[in-house]
Amino acid sequence: MPLPVGSNLNPILQLAQWITDPLGVMDSNAAQFGDIFTLRWAGLKNIVMVSEPNALQVVLTSPSFTAPGEANEIARPLVGDRSVILMSGEQHQQRRKLLMPPFHGDRLVSYGHIISKISNQVIDQIGLNQAFNVRAIMQDITLRVILQVVFGLYEGERLELLKQRLVTRLDVSSTKLGAMFIFLPFLRQDLGAWSPWGRVMKMQKDCDELIYAEIQERRANPDPERIDILNLLLATQDEDGNYLGDVDLRDELMTLLFAGHETTATALAWALYWVHKLPDVYQRLMSELQSLGDRPDPMAIFKAPYLTAVCNETLRIYPVAMTTFSRLVKTPVEISGQMLDAGTEVLASIYLTHRRTDLYPEPEKFRPERFLERQFSPYEFIPFGGGSRRCLGMALAQFEMKIILATILTNARLSLSNPSQNLSPVRRGALLAPEANFTMLKS
Ligand code: HEM
Repeated sequence: MPLPVGSNLNPILQLAQWITDPLGVMDSNAAQFGDIFTLRWAGLKNIVMVSEPNALQVVLTSPSFTAPGEANEIARPLVGDRSVILMSGEQHQQRRKLLMPPFHGDRLVSYGHIISKISNQVIDQIGLNQAFNVRAIMQDITLRVILQVVFGLYEGERLELLKQRLVTRLDVSSTKLGAMFIFLPFLRQDLGAWSPWGRVMKMQKDCDELIYAEIQERRANPDPERIDILNLLLATQDEDGNYLGDVDLRDELMTLLFAGHETTATALAWALYWVHKLPDVYQRLMSELQSLGDRPDPMAIFKAPYLTAVCNETLRIYPVAMTTFSRLVKTPVEISGQMLDAGTEVLASIYLTHRRTDLYPEPEKFRPERFLERQFSPYEFIPFGGGSRRCLGMALAQFEMKIILATILTNARLSLSNPSQNLSPVRRGALLAPEANFTMLKS
């Protein structure tokens, strides 16, 4: 069966456009071809993109589809071969079960006060009336949070060094060259320390050195009292009684550090923009936060309805992850009126789903009230994907966003450096982020 129709633009240009203007690609294809179309990327692959909730449900949950780790090759240079992102089938499900508990329930609540403390510390360091880069500050907070959750590292020399090296490494993926490394694997040639990819590999080695040192130290000095993820992974045995090896540990830790902080930092930067851009939203949110009292319980913050609506609307309007990971058709299946052959690769467009006028009237308007007026199904509002590969950190990310926002808004007075600026979304590595020059002031 032929693939669904799509733009007949040259595949080299299609790939170049996807790298430089992903929203333009999705908007123009959806306007021309509707709910299902094919993207053709030279040298890489053809991908069918879908955005209609019934189709999404089938793609993400039906046994006609798989969610193979091999389709996520682009993450390999960063997360390594033994990461949950690259695993498939039974092995993938088992690894998810292992990693999930620290991100839920009581464990999560126990992080509430530390997240608040970290937020205050970072915000306190900003000078009065000095423009600060919002994404960088949010990244500092979320990186500290994830290092605490993953390693139990709250302060100290190794934490500062690891933080610095991780930011340097991860920043590469956010540049234009970095985006090309992601999509054009042939550019990844390590020709020594002076070649672009050689430099990236050196940065990677610098991070790994510290991660392996932490693993060694923790193996040598076990402490059952610690509740961080590294402790949990160190104690894990498979059915044959084998413990996870150092490479497995390193790859999973790197996965959580990578997937767990830039996403949340970017979402927070967007949230601060919208809240300060729209006075009505600011007023309503502040009166809700004030009604919670002086030192609100983290769970009261987590449950606050308008704060929840603001966070949801932030993740709807410019979803930090524009699409899910790929899914693969296992047995021929009909989606949005089109038959797809086994082996077809499919991406769910989170962005296009969130821009559907049948679900979200005036979708370009930031209006948190829409989340108070109606409930959306998990295939209508899908910022964290769905099914067997749904975001592992969803609960932590939602919790973190609310605690950080509430802490900052109640303890600091911020404003946009340029109130008339209408912030545009740009690709930052694999994410959709505010423009790099987005700054705010603390007064
Ligand atoms: C606002 C913040 C975040 C957003 C928008 C986000 C979004 C996503 C999305 C869309 C996926 C792919 C889901 C799919 O294909 O169905 C994903 C996967 C993943 N996320 Fe997140 N994420 C966020 C924060 C986090 C955090 C805090 C962590 C960990 C601490 C995390 C860990 C992961 C992992 C490990 C996967 C891969 C799961 C697998 O392969 O089974 N994410 N995320």
